[in-house]
Amino acid sequence: MAVTINPLTPGFAGEVSGVDITRPLSRQDVAAIDQGMNRYGVLVFHGQNVTDEQQIAFSRNFGELEAKDRPGNIRKESESRLGAGIGDLSNLDKNGRIISADDRQWFFKLGDRLWHSDSSYREVPAKHSLLSGRVVPQWGGNTEFADMRAAYDALDDRTKAEIENLVCEHSLLYSRGSIGFTEFTPQEIAGFRPVRQRLVRIHPDTGRKSLFLSAHAGAIVGWTIPEARSFLRDLTEHATQREFVYAHRWRQYDLVMWDNRATMHRARRFDRNEVRDMRRTTLGGDTPTVAQVAG
Ligand SMILES: [Fe+2]
Repeated sequence: MAVTINPLTPGFAGEVSGVDITRPLSRQDVAAIDQGMNRYGVLVFHGQNVTDEQQIAFSRNFGELEAKDRPGNIRKESESRLGAGIGDLSNLDKNGRIISADDRQWFFKLGDRLWHSDSSYREVPAKHSLLSGRVVPQWGGNTEFADMRAAYDALDDRTKAEIENLVCEHSLLYSRGSIGFTEFTPQEIAGFRPVRQRLVRIHPDTGRKSLFLSAHAGAIVGWTIPEARSFLRDLTEHATQREFVYAHRWRQYDLVMWDNRATMHRARRFDRNEVRDMRRTTLGGDTPTVAQVAG
Protein backbone atom coordinates (compact mmCIF):
# COMPACT_ATOMS: atom_id res chain seq x y z
CA MET A 1 0.00 0.00 0.00
CA ALA A 2 1.42 3.37 -1.00
CA VAL A 3 1.75 6.30 1.41
CA THR A 4 -0.70 9.08 0.66
CA ILE A 5 -0.89 12.45 2.38
CA ASN A 6 -3.89 14.76 2.32
CA PRO A 7 -3.61 18.35 3.55
CA LEU A 8 -5.55 19.19 6.72
CA THR A 9 -5.34 22.92 6.06
CA PRO A 10 -4.12 24.62 2.88
CA GLY A 11 -0.33 24.05 3.00
CA PHE A 12 0.00 23.06 6.66
CA ALA A 13 -0.43 19.67 8.42
CA GLY A 14 -1.15 16.50 6.50
CA GLU A 15 -3.09 13.31 7.19
CA VAL A 16 -1.18 10.18 6.24
CA SER A 17 -2.69 6.90 5.13
CA GLY A 18 -1.20 3.68 3.82
CA VAL A 19 1.34 3.21 6.64
CA ASP A 20 1.48 0.66 9.45
CA ILE A 21 3.92 2.09 11.96
CA THR A 22 4.19 -1.18 13.89
CA ARG A 23 6.07 -2.75 10.98
CA PRO A 24 9.36 -1.90 9.28
CA LEU A 25 9.00 0.72 6.54
CA SER A 26 10.26 0.50 2.99
CA ARG A 27 12.76 3.09 1.81
CA GLN A 28 10.06 4.59 -0.42
CA ASP A 29 7.69 4.99 2.53
CA VAL A 30 10.38 6.74 4.57
CA ALA A 31 11.14 9.06 1.66
CA ALA A 32 7.45 9.87 1.18
CA ILE A 33 7.03 10.70 4.88
CA ASP A 34 10.21 12.79 4.87
CA GLN A 35 8.92 14.74 1.91
CA GLY A 36 5.57 15.17 3.61
CA MET A 37 7.27 16.54 6.74
CA ASN A 38 9.15 19.11 4.70
CA ARG A 39 5.98 20.17 2.96
CA TYR A 40 3.41 20.07 5.76
CA GLY A 41 5.48 20.43 8.98
CA VAL A 42 2.98 18.21 10.85
CA LEU A 43 1.81 14.73 9.90
CA VAL A 44 -1.08 12.80 11.47
CA PHE A 45 -1.23 8.98 11.44
CA HIS A 46 -4.47 7.40 12.67
CA GLY A 47 -5.02 3.96 14.15
CA GLN A 48 -1.43 3.23 15.20
CA ASN A 49 -1.58 1.03 18.30
CA VAL A 50 2.17 0.99 18.88
CA THR A 51 4.34 -0.27 21.70
CA ASP A 52 7.13 1.96 23.00
CA GLU A 53 9.67 -0.17 21.12
CA GLN A 54 7.73 0.16 17.85
CA GLN A 55 7.42 3.91 18.30
CA ILE A 56 11.18 4.18 18.85
CA ALA A 57 11.92 1.99 15.82
CA PHE A 58 9.59 4.04 13.60
CA SER A 59 11.13 7.32 14.83
CA ARG A 60 14.64 6.14 14.03
CA ASN A 61 13.77 6.04 10.33
CA PHE A 62 14.01 9.82 10.41
CA GLY A 63 17.04 10.50 12.60
CA GLU A 64 18.74 9.78 15.91
CA LEU A 65 16.93 10.01 19.23
CA GLU A 66 17.82 13.22 21.01
CA ALA A 67 20.71 13.00 23.47
CA LYS A 68 19.78 14.24 26.95
CA ASP A 69 22.74 16.58 27.34
CA ARG A 70 20.89 18.53 30.04
CA PRO A 71 17.68 17.97 32.01
CA GLY A 72 14.35 18.55 30.24
CA ASN A 73 12.20 18.34 33.37
CA ILE A 74 12.32 18.16 37.16
CA ARG A 75 11.47 14.47 37.51
CA LYS A 76 14.20 12.21 38.86
CA GLU A 77 15.19 9.26 36.66
CA SER A 78 14.11 6.90 39.46
CA GLU A 79 10.58 8.35 39.34
CA SER A 80 10.16 7.58 35.67
CA ARG A 81 7.21 5.41 34.57
CA LEU A 82 8.62 4.56 31.14
CA GLY A 83 11.87 3.15 29.81
CA ALA A 84 14.76 4.87 28.04
CA GLY A 85 14.12 6.64 24.76
CA ILE A 86 10.46 7.46 25.38
CA GLY A 87 9.19 10.66 27.00
CA ASP A 88 6.28 10.53 29.42
CA LEU A 89 3.83 13.29 28.44
CA SER A 90 1.04 11.80 30.54
CA ASN A 91 -0.57 13.07 33.73
CA LEU A 92 0.49 9.88 35.55
CA ASP A 93 3.14 9.19 38.16
CA LYS A 94 5.55 6.25 38.31
CA ASN A 95 2.79 3.99 39.65
CA GLY A 96 0.22 4.97 37.03
CA ARG A 97 -1.76 7.26 39.34
CA ILE A 98 -2.89 10.71 38.28
CA ILE A 99 -0.42 13.36 39.50
CA SER A 100 -2.02 15.55 42.15
CA ALA A 101 -2.94 19.14 41.34
CA ASP A 102 -0.45 20.60 43.81
CA ASP A 103 2.50 18.46 42.76
CA ARG A 104 5.34 20.56 41.35
CA GLN A 105 5.70 18.08 38.52
CA TRP A 106 2.19 19.01 37.50
CA PHE A 107 3.08 22.70 37.67
CA PHE A 108 6.03 21.97 35.44
CA LYS A 109 3.91 20.06 32.91
CA LEU A 110 1.42 22.93 32.73
CA GLY A 111 4.15 24.90 30.97
CA ASP A 112 3.46 22.74 27.89
CA ARG A 113 0.24 24.71 27.44
CA LEU A 114 2.26 27.68 26.26
CA TRP A 115 3.29 27.85 22.61
CA HIS A 116 6.74 26.33 22.28
CA SER A 117 9.18 24.40 20.17
CA ASP A 118 10.49 21.23 21.84
CA SER A 119 13.97 21.43 23.32
CA SER A 120 14.55 25.02 22.22
CA TYR A 121 16.26 25.20 25.64
CA ARG A 122 19.00 22.86 24.39
CA GLU A 123 22.06 24.09 22.53
CA VAL A 124 21.05 21.81 19.68
CA PRO A 125 17.26 22.05 19.55
CA ALA A 126 15.10 19.09 18.50
CA LYS A 127 14.36 18.04 14.94
CA HIS A 128 11.12 16.04 15.05
CA SER A 129 8.81 15.05 17.88
CA LEU A 130 6.48 12.05 17.57
CA LEU A 131 3.58 11.93 20.01
CA SER A 132 1.45 8.83 20.44
CA GLY A 133 -1.98 9.03 22.07
CA ARG A 134 -2.29 5.81 24.08
CA VAL A 135 -5.17 6.94 26.30
CA VAL A 136 -6.90 10.19 25.42
CA PRO A 137 -9.39 12.09 27.59
CA GLN A 138 -13.01 12.39 26.46
CA TRP A 139 -12.95 16.18 26.54
CA GLY A 140 -10.25 18.68 25.57
CA GLY A 141 -6.55 17.88 25.42
CA ASN A 142 -6.10 19.02 21.81
CA THR A 143 -2.63 19.81 20.55
CA GLU A 144 -2.40 22.96 18.46
CA PHE A 145 0.32 23.57 15.89
CA ALA A 146 1.41 26.85 14.32
CA ASP A 147 3.23 27.16 11.00
CA MET A 148 6.27 29.33 11.69
CA ARG A 149 7.23 29.47 8.01
CA ALA A 150 3.95 31.06 7.02
CA ALA A 151 4.16 33.31 10.07
CA TYR A 152 7.60 34.49 8.99
CA ASP A 153 6.48 35.04 5.39
CA ALA A 154 3.57 37.19 6.57
CA LEU A 155 5.77 39.67 8.47
CA ASP A 156 6.30 43.08 6.92
CA ASP A 157 9.72 43.82 5.40
CA ARG A 158 10.66 46.27 8.16
CA THR A 159 10.19 43.59 10.83
CA LYS A 160 11.94 40.93 8.75
CA ALA A 161 15.00 43.17 8.42
CA GLU A 162 14.97 44.00 12.12
CA ILE A 163 14.84 40.40 13.32
CA GLU A 164 17.14 38.84 10.70
CA ASN A 165 20.16 38.53 13.01
CA LEU A 166 18.54 38.64 16.44
CA VAL A 167 19.53 36.01 18.98
CA CYS A 168 17.26 34.96 21.85
CA GLU A 169 17.95 33.23 25.13
CA HIS A 170 15.84 30.14 25.86
CA SER A 171 15.37 28.39 29.19
CA LEU A 172 12.78 26.23 30.94
CA LEU A 173 13.01 28.79 33.75
CA TYR A 174 11.49 31.42 31.45
CA SER A 175 8.55 29.30 30.24
CA ARG A 176 7.74 28.02 33.71
CA GLY A 177 8.30 31.43 35.22
CA SER A 178 5.73 32.95 32.90
CA ILE A 179 2.95 30.81 34.45
CA GLY A 180 4.18 31.69 37.92
CA PHE A 181 6.17 28.56 38.69
CA THR A 182 9.49 29.83 39.98
CA GLU A 183 10.37 27.49 42.85
CA PHE A 184 13.48 25.79 41.54
CA THR A 185 16.39 24.25 43.40
CA PRO A 186 19.91 25.61 42.75
CA GLN A 187 20.63 22.36 40.90
CA GLU A 188 17.60 22.81 38.63
CA ILE A 189 18.51 26.42 37.95
CA ALA A 190 22.00 25.32 36.89
CA GLY A 191 20.57 22.58 34.64
CA PHE A 192 18.13 25.01 33.02
CA ARG A 193 20.66 27.79 32.34
CA PRO A 194 19.73 29.67 29.15
CA VAL A 195 21.00 28.82 25.68
CA ARG A 196 21.11 31.05 22.61
CA GLN A 197 18.98 30.57 19.49
CA ARG A 198 18.58 32.61 16.34
CA LEU A 199 15.15 34.19 16.02
CA VAL A 200 15.08 33.53 12.27
CA ARG A 201 16.23 30.12 11.16
CA ILE A 202 16.60 28.49 7.79
CA HIS A 203 15.32 24.95 7.29
CA PRO A 204 18.22 22.69 6.23
CA ASP A 205 16.12 20.72 3.71
CA THR A 206 13.75 23.28 2.25
CA GLY A 207 15.78 26.48 2.65
CA ARG A 208 12.66 28.20 3.99
CA LYS A 209 12.98 30.79 6.71
CA SER A 210 10.88 30.55 9.83
CA LEU A 211 10.41 32.30 13.15
CA PHE A 212 12.09 30.35 15.92
CA LEU A 213 9.85 31.36 18.78
CA SER A 214 9.08 29.44 21.96
CA ALA A 215 7.75 30.11 25.44
CA HIS A 216 11.26 29.20 26.54
CA ALA A 217 12.55 32.40 24.92
CA GLY A 218 12.83 35.03 27.64
CA ALA A 219 15.48 37.45 26.42
CA ILE A 220 16.99 38.93 23.27
CA VAL A 221 20.75 39.48 23.30
CA GLY A 222 21.49 43.21 23.54
CA TRP A 223 17.90 44.17 24.45
CA THR A 224 16.39 45.06 27.79
CA ILE A 225 14.15 42.37 29.24
CA PRO A 226 10.88 44.39 29.10
CA GLU A 227 11.51 45.37 25.47
CA ALA A 228 12.47 41.80 24.54
CA ARG A 229 9.53 40.13 26.26
CA SER A 230 6.93 42.49 24.89
CA PHE A 231 8.33 42.05 21.37
CA LEU A 232 8.49 38.26 21.69
CA ARG A 233 4.91 38.32 22.91
CA ASP A 234 3.86 40.38 19.88
CA LEU A 235 5.64 38.04 17.50
CA THR A 236 4.05 35.01 19.15
CA GLU A 237 0.62 36.60 18.92
CA HIS A 238 1.23 37.24 15.23
CA ALA A 239 2.55 33.71 14.58
CA THR A 240 -0.33 31.93 16.29
CA GLN A 241 -3.23 33.64 14.56
CA ARG A 242 -5.82 31.08 13.51
CA GLU A 243 -4.79 31.23 9.86
CA PHE A 244 -1.43 29.68 10.79
CA VAL A 245 -2.83 27.06 13.17
CA TYR A 246 -3.93 23.45 12.89
CA ALA A 247 -5.70 22.11 16.01
CA HIS A 248 -5.40 18.36 16.40
CA ARG A 249 -8.25 16.64 18.16
CA TRP A 250 -6.86 13.35 19.45
CA ARG A 251 -8.36 9.94 18.85
CA GLN A 252 -6.88 6.96 20.65
CA TYR A 253 -3.85 5.55 18.78
CA ASP A 254 -3.22 8.66 16.74
CA LEU A 255 0.44 9.39 16.23
CA VAL A 256 1.37 12.96 15.34
CA MET A 257 4.82 13.87 14.09
CA TRP A 258 6.01 17.46 13.79
CA ASP A 259 9.08 19.40 12.76
CA ASN A 260 10.21 21.60 15.64
CA ARG A 261 12.36 23.58 13.21
CA ALA A 262 9.31 24.91 11.38
CA THR A 263 6.44 24.82 13.90
CA MET A 264 5.37 25.65 17.44
CA HIS A 265 2.76 23.73 19.40
CA ARG A 266 0.87 23.78 22.66
CA ALA A 267 -1.28 21.38 24.68
CA ARG A 268 -4.83 22.37 25.58
CA ARG A 269 -6.78 21.86 28.82
CA PHE A 270 -8.55 18.66 29.67
CA ASP A 271 -10.24 17.22 32.77
CA ARG A 272 -7.26 16.44 34.98
CA ASN A 273 -9.20 13.64 36.70
CA GLU A 274 -9.16 11.70 33.44
CA VAL A 275 -6.11 9.75 32.32
CA ARG A 276 -4.19 11.23 29.41
CA ASP A 277 -1.37 8.90 28.45
CA MET A 278 0.75 10.45 25.70
CA ARG A 279 4.23 9.19 24.86
CA ARG A 280 6.83 11.06 22.89
CA THR A 281 9.94 10.19 20.99
CA THR A 282 12.19 13.08 20.01
CA LEU A 283 14.80 13.29 17.29
CA GLY A 284 17.85 15.48 17.87
CA GLY A 285 18.74 18.36 15.57
CA ASP A 286 21.99 18.56 13.65
CA THR A 287 23.60 21.79 14.80
CA PRO A 288 23.10 24.76 17.14
CA THR A 289 21.34 27.72 15.46
CA VAL A 290 24.06 30.07 16.71
CA ALA A 291 27.34 29.99 18.67
CA GLN A 292 26.82 29.85 22.42
CA VAL A 293 29.81 31.96 23.50
CA ALA A 294 28.98 35.56 24.38
CA GLY A 295 30.22 37.87 21.63
FE1 LIG B 1 6.10 20.12 23.41
